[in-house]
Amino acid sequence: PVGSAISSALLAHYDVHARDLPWRISPAARRAGAGLDPYRVWLSEVMLQQTTVAAVTGYFQRFTDRWPTVEALAAAPEEDVLAAWAGLGYYARARNLIACARAVAGAHGGQFPQTEAGLLALPGVGDYTAAAIAAIAFDEPAAVVDANVERVVARLFAIATPLPAARPEIRTCTARITPRERPGDFAQAMMDLGATICTVRNPSCLICPLASHCAARAAGMAEALPIKPPR
Ligand code: ADE
Repeated sequence: PVGSAISSALLAHYDVHARDLPWRISPAARRAGAGLDPYRVWLSEVMLQQTTVAAVTGYFQRFTDRWPTVEALAAAPEEDVLAAWAGLGYYARARNLIACARAVAGAHGGQFPQTEAGLLALPGVGDYTAAAIAAIAFDEPAAVVDANVERVVARLFAIATPLPAARPEIRTCTARITPRERPGDFAQAMMDLGATICTVRNPSCLICPLASHCAARAAGMAEALPIKPPR
């Protein structure tokens, strides 16, 4: 598969079919014609770590209504934040959320670090989240690999090595197709493709914008990939 052809086809599809999700652009940013607010990108990515888009949407709206900035969240009493988080699960995430907000509001003067390495040093920010924030909020061409992207890439490149051994190759292939222009839209378009078209079972290859680039489709093995670890 050719990287630039893949990203062009995917971004053209995203321009028409992107899911309308509340963290994709803040109303204020939209009015100002500005880019995405790193606080909203960070908050959404932390909430989405082990929780579905459908479950996160309402929480995200309530959090950003109540605490519109990282400073506001940092100043909130811990028990208020934990109460608002109730139902999202994984309380370590909520505690890290508070610690991270306080680190950004304090040591970082209210500004999120703009590089993957700087973001990785924040509480609760791992490889995936650092890459996602760097790409979506700061236009860094970081390779953003979550479970959906992993599946899309394993199929595009017909990677038949079982998981988790396939992960380094999947990361390399993701980096190869990530464009320097619009890397954040590209990452979110890959997530949307995995969530809505390149699904685990019955992938909708007939409506997939990448079908003509997909090695697994050509080999008739899209549904079989990626190969799960032997258990
Ligand atoms: N899952 C994790 N991050 C996401 C995003 N920005 N959009 C859609 N799904 C996601």
